[in-house]
Amino acid sequence: MPSILIIGCGSIGERHLRCFQHTGRCTVAAVETREELRQAMQQRYGVACHSSLEAALALGGWDAAVICTPAPLHLPMMQVLLARGLHVLVEKPLAVDLDEVPAARAALAQYPRYVAVAYVYHLMPWVAAARDFIVTGGLGTVLHATVTAGQHFPTFRPAYREIYYARHDQGGGAVQDALTHLVNAMEWLIGPCTQVYCDGGHQMLEGVTVEDTVNVAARHGMAMVSYAMNQFQAPNETFILLHGTEGSLAIEGHRQRWGVLRRGEAEWTWYTVSPLERDELFIRQAHAFLDGMEGQPSPLCTFEEAVQTLRFNRAALQSMSEGVPVTLSQAS
Ligand SMILES: NC(=O)c1ccc[n+]([C@@H]2O[C@H](COP(=O)([O-])OP(=O)(O)OC[C@H]3O[C@@H](n4cnc5c(N)ncnc54)[C@H](O)[C@@H]3O)[C@@H](O)[C@H]2O)c1
Repeated sequence: MPSILIIGCGSIGERHLRCFQHTGRCTVAAVETREELRQAMQQRYGVACHSSLEAALALGGWDAAVICTPAPLHLPMMQVLLARGLHVLVEKPLAVDLDEVPAARAALAQYPRYVAVAYVYHLMPWVAAARDFIVTGGLGTVLHATVTAGQHFPTFRPAYREIYYARHDQGGGAVQDALTHLVNAMEWLIGPCTQVYCDGGHQMLEGVTVEDTVNVAARHGMAMVSYAMNQFQAPNETFILLHGTEGSLAIEGHRQRWGVLRRGEAEWTWYTVSPLERDELFIRQAHAFLDGMEGQPSPLCTFEEAVQTLRFNRAALQSMSEGVPVTLSQAS
């Protein structure tokens, strides 16, 4: 059985630890700098939890690692892990800027291992099935799309003021933390974003100054896409609507369903999956990563796809601060 090291045991790291353990296909250990969390992981899951990555790597014997620290550490850690021969699953966003991307790409070329980025929409059956429909030509050419989403973030993350979320340079704010999931999903559905105009602001969340509300007018090649999201609204809802030359397609994340209305039809045809608990997506993600390690096909976000979404994050933040549209550069 492969041995997986979970690095960082905060909110998402604990979930990855539990979900990798649940697959029954690997053994799991962890790294966490905070003493109380190390004890908690040992008690709750019966796993060894090391106080530093260096100490864990010195022991040897790891096949792969899952990087669950704040974003500025993602690419530096990925390079260390690749050089030690490990496969790597990296949390989103890939980084906060593009500075380390060329070095990380060079490390991947020098030490070829399976690397994936944990944009979890790739594991949502209602998104994956919609993508199959789109990429096999069911909508024709997608020309226009709207993405409307939001949730009451403090309900899901009461500690939001004390974590990375409060600071842009740690990967915080609505663009890098939440919108990035939606943009990565849209890029997976219809191709890369090429231009962005982003209006964002701090509207409501107490105790932080980063933007909690964003309106975006984007181009993904031929398709004009608008995104509207906030992190304070009462309902936890995600609507994606795509219009193509052959018809329209809707994804309703909160209802775990997708639907199609072909040109000439009067009614939507909906496809609903049996309800999934949140851990189930992460168990699927763990299986997909283990599959990828074995050389099997995997739907996970690739390194280069995550670089592209990182370009979007940077361009959106630049547009927000300068008040102008930004064309995404393909450099780095
Ligand atoms: N895919 C998702 O749905 C999802 C959800 C939440 C967070 N995330 C992402 O995961 C990352 C972590 O988010 P979080 O909410 O778990 O943050 P968090 O603050 O709850 O946890 C981060 C943990 O990393 C630990 N840490 C920091 N430096 C370390 C080091 N050098 N070695 C070992 N441990 C270290 C911290 O002590 C902390 O416990 C972020 O990039 C975030 O954007 C993704």
